[in-house]
Amino acid sequence: MNTDGSLIDTIKNRRNTKRFQLKDVNRSDIEMLLESAIWAPNHRNTEPWRFYVVEKGSSLRVEIAKEMIDLREEKSEKKLDDRQKKSIYDQMSEAPCLIFVFSLLSENEEIAEENYAATCCAIQNIQLTATSLGLGVGWSTGNVAKIRNMNQILGTDEDLKIAGVLTVGYPEALVPKTRKDYETVTKWL
Ligand SMILES: Cc1cc2nc3c(=O)[nH]c(=O)nc-3n(C[C@H](O)[C@H](O)[C@H](O)COP(=O)(O)O)c2cc1C
Repeated sequence: MNTDGSLIDTIKNRRNTKRFQLKDVNRSDIEMLLESAIWAPNHRNTEPWRFYVVEKGSSLRVEIAKEMIDLREEKSEKKLDDRQKKSIYDQMSEAPCLIFVFSLLSENEEIAEENYAATCCAIQNIQLTATSLGLGVGWSTGNVAKIRNMNQILGTDEDLKIAGVLTVGYPEALVPKTRKDYETVTKWL
């Protein structure tokens, strides 16, 4: 395989990122990520993705943190103490740029599935473009992606499925990852 510092290296160097530097991300870089996202393949040309950028300092972050606290309390069936609540507020306010990514739902299950697949391709475009810019992306389908009232908070009445919440920033440290050899998951027939 040719590894001359091009696409294959960017693919391999992309890492899911959880720890970020405090340095802010330029809006023009976020715009470039979104521009790369919308060039993902999409069956029937439905362009079935929606992006909500919640920048650092946005007042929506307080609402999102409140919903995350409610969700945690509901799951554990007990109230969080002030220290735990503060940690969620701090985490939400300190996170670099957040991009909530959704796919369009459809009454047709096959179309909804294709829309989700296309949206995941868009996310991969974002991740690879970010890697090429020296940025890191954390893809979460955890608590932050599960909060209630998401439509209300983001101000949309579209029928959407969350594909992930992406945290975009300058990576502090990258955790090395390995993969099994592709031969272990491939049959040549
Ligand atoms: C659909 C999807 C959902 C994910 N959700 C989470 C998540 O909720 N939390 C998390 O830490 N990582 C999440 N990840 C990232 C994976 O954990 C990560 O890709 C995996 O550990 C491999 O590491 P790498 O991406 O650095 O190669 C998700 C990835 C995908 C594709």
